[in-house]
Amino acid sequence: MDLPTRPTSVVECDARVLDSAPVGRRYHRLVVAPEHPLPAVRPGQFFHLLCRDATGGPYLRRPMSVWRARGDGELGFLLHVTGRGTAALATLRPGDVLPIVGPLGEGFRLDPAWRRILILARGVGLATLAPLAEAAAAGGCAVDAVLSAKAAADLMAEEFVGTSRTEVFPVLDEDGTSDLPTVEALLRQRFAEARPDAVFTCGSNRLLLLLQRLSAEHGIPGQVALEQQMACGLGMCFCCVRPIRGEDGTLENLRVCTEGPVFDLAKAVSW
Ligand SMILES: Cc1cc2nc3c(=O)[nH]c(=O)nc-3n(C[C@H](O)[C@H](O)[C@H](O)COP(=O)(O)OP(=O)(O)OC[C@H]3O[C@@H](n4cnc5c(N)ncnc54)[C@H](O)[C@@H]3O)c2cc1C
Ligand code: FES
Repeated sequence: MDLPTRPTSVVECDARVLDSAPVGRRYHRLVVAPEHPLPAVRPGQFFHLLCRDATGGPYLRRPMSVWRARGDGELGFLLHVTGRGTAALATLRPGDVLPIVGPLGEGFRLDPAWRRILILARGVGLATLAPLAEAAAAGGCAVDAVLSAKAAADLMAEEFVGTSRTEVFPVLDEDGTSDLPTVEALLRQRFAEARPDAVFTCGSNRLLLLLQRLSAEHGIPGQVALEQQMACGLGMCFCCVRPIRGEDGTLENLRVCTEGPVFDLAKAVSW
């Protein structure tokens, strides 16, 4: 039998935990070193992580966006602990082993001709968008990031900016600046003062709808990273489908793990 000689673009392997620590009041940082060389990871792609608690479960892996991917082999995730799987991930300690599969999915598309992009992220959605800011900045593209959180303590602006020179515009529930009219006014001001070539979002349904409306009004293309509960993560079970508008406006059920998680902003349907 002939074996494929083309290098695979998805790796299943163990990864050694290097760093595991709380970030602010709600989030957790997990940095691992995969024991197998990984193919290049694109911003917006994710890994499927096997979470093991004291009972050995849960059974299904959990999808997690790549927050940091370093050339030296380090892979970072930012977690919001919401249930059994993410709670198990947060108990990992340096030296522990985490089985991973990835990189998976279609990531963000960055046009080298773009000179400025605008990112609108809510909560842990910024983990998904942080590598995009880094990649854009590395290509000489200016990045404006409107980061929305419950409170300043939850903003994770440092985790977002990393080595990029992103200009951050924080909007917070605690001081009322994250309400929709205020965010809309801020976006309109950014569009007027420094019009972006493209806009990107993740993490909030109401911000998706707002950015969809404003990007259509201003003729600015956009992309959104969607979330959906997953089983296989590999395109086989169809449990992760979401309705996406086709070219003719009809709705198609597309797999977030395979055709996504990044979709054209104009074609995404809110949930
Ligand atoms: C492509 C992708 C990238 C993601 N990246 C990140 C990330 O960088 N950081 C992060 O903290 N989380 C991320 N998530 C969400 C994360 O996968 C879920 O929070 C996690 O699977 C929950 O597992 P759990 O066992 O802790 O909770 P569960 O007990 O499985 O669920 C807890 C609650 O969260 C809801 N939920 C579970 N999975 C999802 C999901 N995928 N989308 C929306 N709601 C869900 C459940 O309905 C339930 O209400 C991502 C999801 C996807 C699909
Ligand atoms: S999770 Fe199985 S097809 Fe997407």
